[in-house]
Amino acid sequence: MKASNPLVLFNIIFCTFALICISTTQGQVCNKPQKGSTLQVFHVFSPCSPFRPQKSISWEESVLQMQSEDKTRLLYLSSLAVAKKQVVPIASGRGLIQSPTYIVRALVGTPPQTFLMAVDTSSDAAWVPCSGCIGCPSSTFASEQSTSFKTLGCEAPQCKQVLNPTTCTATACSFNTTYGGSTVAANLSQDSLKLATDIIPSYTFGCIQQTTGNSVPPQGLLGLGRGPLSLLSQTQSLYQSTFSYCLPGYKFSLQHKSLNFSGSLRLGPTGQPIRIKYTPLLKNPRRSSLYYVNLLGIRVGPKIVDIPASAFAFDPATGAGTIFDSGTTFTRLVQAAYIPVRDEFRRRMGKTAIVSSLGGFDTCYTVPVTIPTMTFMFSGMNVTLPQDNFLIHSSSGSTTCLAMAAAPDNVNSVLNVIANLQQQNHRVLFDVPNSRLGVSRETCT
Ligand SMILES: *[C@@H]1O[C@H](CO)[C@@H](O)[C@H](O)[C@H]1NC(C)=O
Ligand SMILES: *[C@@H]1O[C@H](CO)[C@@H](O)[C@H](O)[C@H]1NC(C)=O
Ligand SMILES: *[C@@H]1O[C@H](CO)[C@@H](O)[C@H](O)[C@H]1NC(C)=O
Ligand SMILES: *[C@@H]1O[C@H](CO)[C@@H](O)[C@H](O)[C@H]1NC(C)=O
Repeated sequence: MKASNPLVLFNIIFCTFALICISTTQGQVCNKPQKGSTLQVFHVFSPCSPFRPQKSISWEESVLQMQSEDKTRLLYLSSLAVAKKQVVPIASGRGLIQSPTYIVRALVGTPPQTFLMAVDTSSDAAWVPCSGCIGCPSSTFASEQSTSFKTLGCEAPQCKQVLNPTTCTATACSFNTTYGGSTVAANLSQDSLKLATDIIPSYTFGCIQQTTGNSVPPQGLLGLGRGPLSLLSQTQSLYQSTFSYCLPGYKFSLQHKSLNFSGSLRLGPTGQPIRIKYTPLLKNPRRSSLYYVNLLGIRVGPKIVDIPASAFAFDPATGAGTIFDSGTTFTRLVQAAYIPVRDEFRRRMGKTAIVSSLGGFDTCYTVPVTIPTMTFMFSGMNVTLPQDNFLIHSSSGSTTCLAMAAAPDNVNSVLNVIANLQQQNHRVLFDVPNSRLGVSRETCT
């Protein structure tokens, strides 16, 4: 299906799969006219997303699925530390494509073709599935219909930034890479990209020719990482390496009643919050695309949990430390941090509440419980999380889980990941020129 008319697409999808059809308001909600440099952001499971599950899945199934996608995600994040990119294992083929978690509307080419591209703060890549692509799941970019499209050859400076081109000729710079559990073969290309009301002429991206696995976002990827070739690097004069987002919350069931399911991605320094708490943004040469911060401790209730400093240590030599990531759903802490946090959490819940598990979550309750507060203490900034940012509740309300887990031990080096559930309904500001990351509470609209 070609996504040239998103309104029609949204309505077809929504009215086909949703339990209630609200087509009259759907266009206004899912396709608001975008102003300035601010884009609407949707969760892939939102009623505005054509990638939402097409059959009803239970709450438990959706949680387990997100956990399994997080595993692939962590392998991907971990693989970024390896100098020579390795092919990570292909995830077992679930039909559902859901990684990364948030999408924005972007227009590519002349005349413009619309794509719902995934945003990913931990990737520099920009990709669009191109016509003739083998293995691409959904709409493709008809490059032959765009008058501004061109492929880059080997002599283009951008081709030198691509790791190990597989073909390098005067007219083609092709490369193979991996993303999550997928492989991608693409040609380096350029075309105009329109984001909200901004036009970025000659935007460089990979035109995907072939892909395997199901981690590649079906309508393309907009990497918001900080490395070469990323959106930030290509729009220095326009956006000055500054952006913020408010990631909308999302209910773990298909009966999504709220219409407030969109958030926003604001590009550039204009209109960013003035009153916001900051923590220094760190750059780790081992994983140069990622946004590192300095996590110092975690408070559960009034108690600062006893965690060895090594669990949070930032290490440029190994890539260890703490990152903010938009594409992981549930926060991961290294064992030495997770275990004491979990134990303190359980201790505060009292003996009468019985702990059970759900997939990778080991702290779930099936009785009503009084929840302690949780504060993440970063250098210069304490963030006390509302319960919705660290708990998940089953749709029937009978099960509540602490939505965090221990990071796998077998990865290349320790990484704590502040994931998107913890960031939802907050404004998170990435201010690269001033090396700081800001967080303030906000109800996304
Ligand atoms: C991509 O590059 C390959 C050579 O590596 C070439 O055969 C193919 O035609 C190119 N595709 C497009 C759409 O330019
Ligand atoms: C690159 O990927 C394509 C398509 O998957 C494959 O046919 C080709 O052998 C790969 N080339 C290299 C050098 O890995
Ligand atoms: C939706 O947002 C509006 C204003 O932003 C707010 O007044 C309203 O309560 C919200 N509705 C829901 C269901 O959250
Ligand atoms: C964060 O909380 C801790 C413990 O309550 C306190 O000592 C520290 O000063 C706070 N930091 C900031 C930046 O407010």
